[in-house]
Amino acid sequence: MSRVEHIGRATLYLGDCREVLPTLGKVDAVVTDPPYGLGDKWQGGAAGTKASWKLNDGGSEMGWDVEAPTEVVLGLPDLAEHSIIWGGNYFSLPPRRGWLLWDKIVREFTSGHAELAWTTLDQPVRAFNFAHAQLASEGKSHPTQKPLRLMKWCLGFLPDAQTILDPFMGSGTTGVAAVQMGRQFIGIEREPKYFDIACKRIEDAQRQGDMFMESAA
Ligand SMILES: C[S@@+](CC[C@H](N)C(=O)[O-])C[C@H]1O[C@@H](n2cnc3c(N)ncnc32)[C@H](O)[C@@H]1O
Repeated sequence: MSRVEHIGRATLYLGDCREVLPTLGKVDAVVTDPPYGLGDKWQGGAAGTKASWKLNDGGSEMGWDVEAPTEVVLGLPDLAEHSIIWGGNYFSLPPRRGWLLWDKIVREFTSGHAELAWTTLDQPVRAFNFAHAQLASEGKSHPTQKPLRLMKWCLGFLPDAQTILDPFMGSGTTGVAAVQMGRQFIGIEREPKYFDIACKRIEDAQRQGDMFMESAA
């Protein structure tokens, strides 16, 4: 691991989670969005502008998603009492009933109509509606950035989880949600570019939260 940042309630590691995870103890919950191994199949572009779609040519933007980290993902449920794993349908995780579904509402100009998270939650399937285009209002800094509202919705199912781990943190959306909800957060990201973005987003979220608490006092 090449860097560790302590930012208020968050501890962020720049490095490969396969090296960092064995150094950590158990956490209350893993909430993550690993690479699904779709780097060579992915096509992206702005919603509503089909002309700007591009087929991924194996170039740099999705280079991190060419190989799915199957061994790590299958071991994640052992690290915590609860787990929420986006893209769980790409991995051979055990059968569970509490899947979460993100319905992207829009049926055109998107590669998938919905995304699925495998979870350890003992509850019926739950769905969250959020059009991908709304991400623009949150500021998009990662090609597969999850909506902040989606990640806060996930954490709402884990009210007792004080420490949240995301070993595939990307731009840090899980961390922003966690600190905004007063939880401790541990994040790992191996790409320096996204690690720096995550540090800034989580620092900003924490500063805004502290200012809000001060002005409310
Ligand atoms: C699907 S993205 C996560 C996006 C994130 N949910 C967000 O909102 O920005 C997965 C991330 O995992 C990172 N990653 C892939 N393999 C990793 C590994 N072995 N250790 C740590 N990070 C890794 C990639 O660089 C990528 O940024």
